[in-house]
Amino acid sequence: MEIVETVAQARAITRAWRAQGQSVGLTPTMGYLHAGHASLIRRAKEENDQVVVSVFVNPTQFGPNEDLDKYPRDFARDVDLCSSLGVGLIFHPQPEAIYPPGYATYVEAPALSVNLCGRSRPTHFRGVLTVVLKLFLILEPRRAYFGLKDAQQFFILKRMVEDLCLDLVMVPCPTVREPDGLALSSRNAYLSETERRVAPLIHQALVRAEAMARAGVTQVAEIKSAMAEILERQAPLIAKDYIEFVETEGLTVVEELTRDTLVAVAAYVGKTRLIDNFLWKGLDNK
Ligand code: PAF
Repeated sequence: MEIVETVAQARAITRAWRAQGQSVGLTPTMGYLHAGHASLIRRAKEENDQVVVSVFVNPTQFGPNEDLDKYPRDFARDVDLCSSLGVGLIFHPQPEAIYPPGYATYVEAPALSVNLCGRSRPTHFRGVLTVVLKLFLILEPRRAYFGLKDAQQFFILKRMVEDLCLDLVMVPCPTVREPDGLALSSRNAYLSETERRVAPLIHQALVRAEAMARAGVTQVAEIKSAMAEILERQAPLIAKDYIEFVETEGLTVVEELTRDTLVAVAAYVGKTRLIDNFLWKGLDNK
């Protein structure tokens, strides 16, 4: 396994692989890898000749009062995990390699960035789109793997790939959960013992929503209030940021459950903001 920090090195290695006819799968990450990332890497390994993992805590996707400085990092552990999973290359750039002095170019998808996480994190998706486009241009993967815990991120990036005619396949991968339902996230490391105990309520609110949808409830307001009631059981330890139902094309808010709906929750557990969701595909697809 190779570990490189510069754009030129990363590009040279993936170019050589492609020249030999080998397909490249990319799993972009911000490090502090967990079993969710491992599932993306395994899938990439199954479907490609070579797997690249990028480990880069991307400053442009953090707002001014967010957790960039304290975002958890353990590169030595990430290296061990990647090596055990058969990764061929870790791209681990320093911020200056991605954003050199004078850097001025950003990618935006404003219409898809106003709802859900875009509301409380107005510059977040611009940072994600910009860095992921750069990773795609540097590494030129055949396929790229993203977890559906960050569903809005996946839909926005997929749109970018279509809009900019990028020649790669976006592969969505299911959310990996703890046994009690909590979606895996590097940010779970911030939770105190008490916070960790109540955090699965976010998933429980989504389970309740899915049960209501299966039972035929279509009014979003009714489902939302049942979900809010579940989160409120642990107020003020859990504080809702949003509970939102959006259609999966334009990510606009829906009042009634249509066939393809993203049901998404963001909530603060203590000071830690966690997100989770499920995709409602209609009763006939279950
Ligand atoms: O999902 C993440 O970890 C990040 O948003 C990503 C896609 C690696 C871009 O920095």
